[in-house]
Amino acid sequence: PANPPLNLTNIQGDILSGLPKKTQFYIFFDIKDVAKFRADLVKFVPIVKTVAQVLKDRDDIADHKRRGLPGLIPMVGVNIAFSHTGFQKLGIDDSTLTPLGDNDPFKIGQKRDAVTNLGDKTRSDGQPDWDEKFLKDLHGIILISGESHASIEKKKLEVEAIFHVHTPKASIQEIATIRGDVRPGDQSAHEHFGFLDGISNPQVLGFDKVFNPGPKPVDPGVVLTGETGDPAARADWAVDGSFLAFRYLFQEVPEFDQFLKKNPLAKDGDGKDLTPQEGSDLLGARTVGRWKSGAPIDVTPFKDDPALAADPRRNNDFAFQGEINSQLRCPFGAHVRKTNPRNDLEVPPAPINPIPIEKRRIMRRGVQFGPEVTREEKISGKTQHGRGLLFACYQSHIENGFQFIQQSWANSKTFPPFETQPEDPGLDPLIGQGVREMSGLDPLNEQKVLSLPDFIIPRGGEYFFSPSIKGLKNTIAK
Ligand code: HEM
Repeated sequence: PANPPLNLTNIQGDILSGLPKKTQFYIFFDIKDVAKFRADLVKFVPIVKTVAQVLKDRDDIADHKRRGLPGLIPMVGVNIAFSHTGFQKLGIDDSTLTPLGDNDPFKIGQKRDAVTNLGDKTRSDGQPDWDEKFLKDLHGIILISGESHASIEKKKLEVEAIFHVHTPKASIQEIATIRGDVRPGDQSAHEHFGFLDGISNPQVLGFDKVFNPGPKPVDPGVVLTGETGDPAARADWAVDGSFLAFRYLFQEVPEFDQFLKKNPLAKDGDGKDLTPQEGSDLLGARTVGRWKSGAPIDVTPFKDDPALAADPRRNNDFAFQGEINSQLRCPFGAHVRKTNPRNDLEVPPAPINPIPIEKRRIMRRGVQFGPEVTREEKISGKTQHGRGLLFACYQSHIENGFQFIQQSWANSKTFPPFETQPEDPGLDPLIGQGVREMSGLDPLNEQKVLSLPDFIIPRGGEYFFSPSIKGLKNTIAK
């Protein structure tokens, strides 16, 4: 049955359509004065960009291009979200956002979740081994995205003026501000290890108009609270929002490259000899499940295919079909197979799956931070400058989405679970936390286990809730 259309003027833009994100500020703030903040928020709400406005911006950009006009149109988007401690500070009852009570990830916050469930390394005092700023209580996050540094700088000043930041009337205090930037030139849209990212996001019923072949579309309630497919009962103000799981993830790029260089595969799965470069490229593709171009190895296992990668009708059309007990084409532990196992959980003899896999999908909206790898780092194979991914994803239940994927899939050496295969899959080679080893990297020796250095190091994060415009206007602002 068709889902009723969504009210796109009520939903914050980043959730369904993604803000324009050539460059982006993530501003983490603390509420200093509740009454002032709620009054200032009245002036802030009109600048919050909705899904409807992002779609209109896109039409304008397309029109600008069609007419052959020069340059980029200045394009900025602002969104806001709050943590549980933020709602507590504001005195807002968010109990319909925490159906799991004291076990609810939104309620306990990511600082605690990192230690109890996500597998982050801890310090001697029991806190996660994070950047100090993220060990404080963060009440909220403001996202400012745009097409240029000048545009987002200007918008940041406007936002700071609304909340009287740096004056005695300040209603918020900035705890941390991080700028993310899409990588330069032909690496644009590629994450720091070099792989094209942002290819596979859920297609949403009632929102998307074009459905490309790939995983089944999801109900809007998988991403949006209170919409069809969200089993929880939500207060009116909490409908049409979404939980934003943010992770501050550092990537050890020279070390990752060094690992690929030191462990090249000698032959591909057809037994063909590979040069060291080809052997390292294939190994890299097998850690992710896609070539750097984005082409899925399940479709083109031993040779990159950039044309396939660039074709949205084909680049997500795979399901590990006929591979339930085989790692020949794609390792069980490859990042995309771990984080979206597709047929592995859906088609017999796959184990019975109590929650349909569609409910585990997340809408990823991250952006890179930090500089390109320097010559010195390349030569030494050692990271000297912090860089990585400002990971952000939206879902209607953190325990079904981000938390579950990290804890029960990426960190579990026995997932995906098949009875007839002798070897354990091992951890997700990118994000897995724990004893980092995996099988299946060598297609001709699937049982061989390789141990993996830490390639991705979590240094902070928090769970936020991005409310609807009505929620912001009628309940949170005053
Ligand atoms: C897909 C990289 C962190 C979940 C991908 C892809 C790449 C990638 C290259 C393939 C492109 C695509 O399908 O869109 C990274 C890097 C990370 C990171 C470098 C950290 C720095 C995470 C985290 C999660 C996650 C923390 C969730 C716990 C996913 C999901 C997909 C994906 C769900 C799509 C899988 C599919 O539908 O096929 N990632 N990722 N990633 N990643 Fe990550």
